[in-house]
Amino acid sequence: MTRKPLNEILNLPIPEEEIFRIAAAVPEPLISWYRQNARDLPWRENPEPYQVWVSEIMLQQTRVEAVKPYYRRFLEALPDVAALADAPEEQLMKLWEGLGYYSRARNLQKAARQIMERHGGKLPPSYELLLDLAGFGEYTAGAVASIAFGIPVPAVDGNVLRVFSRVLASDSDIMAPAVRKGCRSLLLETMPQSCPGDYNQALIELGATLCAPNGPPNCMACPLSHLCRAYLNGNPSAFPVKAPKKERRAEEKTIFVVISPEGVLLRQRPNEGLLAGLWEFPWEEGHLSKEETGKTLGEWGIVPKKRHTLRPAKHIFTHMEWRMAGVLAVCEKILPPEGLRLVTWEEMETVYTVPSAFSAFQKAALAAREEFA
Ligand code: ADE
Repeated sequence: MTRKPLNEILNLPIPEEEIFRIAAAVPEPLISWYRQNARDLPWRENPEPYQVWVSEIMLQQTRVEAVKPYYRRFLEALPDVAALADAPEEQLMKLWEGLGYYSRARNLQKAARQIMERHGGKLPPSYELLLDLAGFGEYTAGAVASIAFGIPVPAVDGNVLRVFSRVLASDSDIMAPAVRKGCRSLLLETMPQSCPGDYNQALIELGATLCAPNGPPNCMACPLSHLCRAYLNGNPSAFPVKAPKKERRAEEKTIFVVISPEGVLLRQRPNEGLLAGLWEFPWEEGHLSKEETGKTLGEWGIVPKKRHTLRPAKHIFTHMEWRMAGVLAVCEKILPPEGLRLVTWEEMETVYTVPSAFSAFQKAALAAREEFA
């Protein structure tokens, strides 16, 4: 099958050769800019395959600043593939608590076990073999192959797509798989063979700093402005053109923060689906009235000494949001009903992973604990 020409995919009024010519002019100025301006980031100090892999998984969907402390703590606790493969599930979830997208952590461990079985505990220096591991897509396989092993393959993330949509002044939707594929094949043919890891990171770095997603790009400082079609046309902020956002589904819940001097009532989420297997404050669908919350507590056999309404909270996931009302029930003693567990204050913080969707309520629980002091 012949592939669609790039000028069609990218909706550009210039010949394909011109697109390749522009892309081929990017590496030299970009890499020299990168070598002078790259941020000091902990995963760049020691770009061993395991380190690069862990950092790239953490950096998917999470900002660099937020990742730093997680990265350090994770590598201290689980310094190599073997330690990750053997880590107890609760430890792994606890190390990931707050980063979100917990399936990334589960896949990380699944891949670590595959690496133990298939590759003697070492990440394989091959793009295809990496791609075959759990949680590795084209981006992660490309990032690890290029940064850790110097294999010349692209690593196309949202930063790279944004940079190229501006450099080429392409108004195609960068979320479209065809555009990602087109960008990948353009890079595959034009990337430097000698330092592919630096080149991939330089593209990401430019997209994260000067050519960032929010606010106007800093073209005055950009090493690519002389060849950037969007800049030369005078409208760099017009790219990338965004497809209209899909509405997020909203779910209403009432969260029950049931506490006693001993501890807190938690419930484990189902083993499949969103936040699988993690622990939550028990909740009911909908924003319940005072009578309804009293009835629910009664059904659980909970007799609170005091009951307050908590400040509502919202948590946004990719495809939906939770709008949460909250009730604090302060009890002398809790006899957990079936399906709920009383965990000690200490255990809530050290053993049970409560995802950040509930962090407002976890804070409220800890603040209310003071009442027992
Ligand atoms: N985002 C994804 N990969 C990155 C890297 N290696 N450095 C900085 N930000 C990144």
